[in-house]
Amino acid sequence: MLKLFEHETLDVSNLSDAETALEVQDLNLWFGNKHVLQDISMRIPKHRITAFIGQSGCGKSTLVSAFNRLNDLYPGCRYQGSIYLDGRDINHKKENVSRLRTQVGMVFQRPNPFPMSIYDNVSYGLRLQGVRGRRQLDDAVESALKDAALWDEVKDRLFESAQILSGGQQQRLVIARALALKPDVLLLDEPTSALDPLTTLFIEELMAGLKKRCTIVIVTHNMQQAARVSDYTAFLHQGRLIEYTDSDTLFTMPEKKQTEDYITGRYG
Ligand SMILES: Nc1ncnc2c1ncn2[C@@H]1O[C@H](COP(=O)(O)OP(=O)(O)O)[C@@H](O)[C@H]1O
Ligand SMILES: [Mg+2]
Repeated sequence: MLKLFEHETLDVSNLSDAETALEVQDLNLWFGNKHVLQDISMRIPKHRITAFIGQSGCGKSTLVSAFNRLNDLYPGCRYQGSIYLDGRDINHKKENVSRLRTQVGMVFQRPNPFPMSIYDNVSYGLRLQGVRGRRQLDDAVESALKDAALWDEVKDRLFESAQILSGGQQQRLVIARALALKPDVLLLDEPTSALDPLTTLFIEELMAGLKKRCTIVIVTHNMQQAARVSDYTAFLHQGRLIEYTDSDTLFTMPEKKQTEDYITGRYG
């Protein structure tokens, strides 16, 4: 399988600290009485694309949401175990959660631009951080839009409403909004499932280029997509991490029967 940027294949079961963007240690998570994530331990490599696959309801969104503590918003949620971002325990009581969410950006299935101009969408987070210099904001908006492969399409209408953009453009705008904050990790939760196939391919190519900027984590229930874009793939089943290895191995020679059953479509 040809990836846009070839690089040596790492053994994700044995990453060094320097190679690790996120480390999950014995994570268990409950929503009320429901044990949604069970004994998850893994390391996610820096500057690579890691995909999470598995049946609907297996815990993919919950797991990636734990990486920027989005589950904290649900009162019935509790968890045990640790998650380290570049060695820092993100569940520590002194963790600054707003800063964490800029370092670990998130893009959802439905593009959710704010009801404001293209420019204001992209500069929103920076202005929230207190950046006021016009020049600095202009530069940040331009470079984030370029990184999200949207600049050429919008540079002449930056001050028009984001609502006029197509779905694929809105999704790239939301990616630009996250990139403007220079995240270490970008979480993409089924980012193309609301988009048409051509727009999907466009976003997949964009992801390959973004690896230089940050670590990418993508949730997808589209196995072809995982095989196409991701360097590493983690298969979850009923809240457990069943198999996690480089994507070529996972999709061609899976070790576990459950993985094989899933990738060959024996269950949906
Ligand atoms: N906020 C929540 N409150 C209660 N249960 C939830 C909540 N979010 C997810 N769940 C449950 O946790 C399980 C995993 O959900 P999710 O992580 O969304 O799965 P996936 O993304 O793999 O489809 C499901 O059984 C789901 O119903
Ligand atoms: Mg989900």
